[in-house]
Amino acid sequence: MLRRRGARGNGRVILQSLSIENYRNIEAARFEPGHELTVICGKNGQGKTNLLEAVWMLTGGRSFRGAKDAELIREGAEYAVLEGNAEGNGRESRIRIFVGGPPGGRKARGARVNGVDHGRAGNIAGIFAAVVFDPGHLSLIKGGPDGRRRFLDTALCQLYPGYVTLLRQYTRLVTQKNALLKQYPQARDAERLLDVFDEKLCECGAEVSRRRREYIERLEPEATGTYRDIAGGGEALALRFEPSCRDAAELARVLAESRRRDLAAGFCTAGPHREDFSIFIDGREAKRFASQGQQRSAVLSLKLAEAAGAKQVTGDHPVMLLDDVLSELDETRQAYLLNRMAHRQTIVTACDANLFGRTAGKICRMEGGNLMDS
Ligand SMILES: Nc1ncnc2c1ncn2[C@@H]1O[C@H](COP(=O)(O)OP(=O)(O)OP(=O)(O)O)[C@@H](O)[C@H]1O
Ligand SMILES: [Mg+2]
Repeated sequence: MLRRRGARGNGRVILQSLSIENYRNIEAARFEPGHELTVICGKNGQGKTNLLEAVWMLTGGRSFRGAKDAELIREGAEYAVLEGNAEGNGRESRIRIFVGGPPGGRKARGARVNGVDHGRAGNIAGIFAAVVFDPGHLSLIKGGPDGRRRFLDTALCQLYPGYVTLLRQYTRLVTQKNALLKQYPQARDAERLLDVFDEKLCECGAEVSRRRREYIERLEPEATGTYRDIAGGGEALALRFEPSCRDAAELARVLAESRRRDLAAGFCTAGPHREDFSIFIDGREAKRFASQGQQRSAVLSLKLAEAAGAKQVTGDHPVMLLDDVLSELDETRQAYLLNRMAHRQTIVTACDANLFGRTAGKICRMEGGNLMDS
């Protein structure tokens, strides 16, 4: 069984401060969010999402916009450094993330926590827990299965450090098997080598699938309850996981049955790397029928459920990072969301801070990459 990360926390994760150097359009900034709501406001293209993304980088050195190193480092600079002070899992952590490096030096994204080198930034997943909503996540509803798998895997990686290793191992095996399928479909010993791969794939693949299934089971009641509340009780959300297998024995059968197809295609056509889940609103598939506001509400419900699930496992509610969250939501839905965010550290971006006028949040302004208290 995978161990959950760290000691039990005392209620919520808190980002105390974040120092930013040469990240995107931010040359230098120090961000000290409030312990509840913080609104980052500013006109389009000023760096609001960049700041939110910098906070998210502390979760493991990845961007929620899938950017390459060169895009994250400020134009003309050689590397970017982020240093955050956070509380969570019953301890304080000083997290330093590097992107890029001086010529000849180590280039990969690296991380240090409390002065200790952790190597790749991905290795620190779970130390600082956050959940992000960005308008790009609307593709969870309308987009392809890879985005939905990423949603499950990102959450699982934050919750269980062992899942990172498991998933890496599975992904590596699939890549290697794909190379074999592409290069040696006619080779005499290809079949035997493929059998060896399948044996290894079954063990870790079935475990990946099991963790995802358990996660969806945990997520669903919370997501459906949240959706009911966001929508004022009028609509019902449902999730349906489409697993590749129930266990390792079934995965072995699935892989054996797909062998001929795999050889013809030149890649693995079946297995957990092709899994998906469907989202329904009032019994109709959201992918095809949901309106803009319904899609947004469904994604928000998944994200809020993700955060609630993390609290159940770790004892701490993750920091909520909500990019441009209120647009397209009607007033009832906006009010519900703001109310739901109370007593959790939540950082939101908005062009118009007046939307948050009645909340007691801290307001910061972003202008051309310069961050100011308002
Ligand atoms: N590596 C980089 N170096 C310099 N500037 C960058 C870099 N990457 C992005 N930018 C700049 O950052 C700006 C976009 O910032 P961001 O996406 O945070 O805007 P925003 O305030 O969220 O705007 P909106 O309200 O439209 O969402 C763009 O002007 C872009 O050119
Ligand atoms: Mg933005």
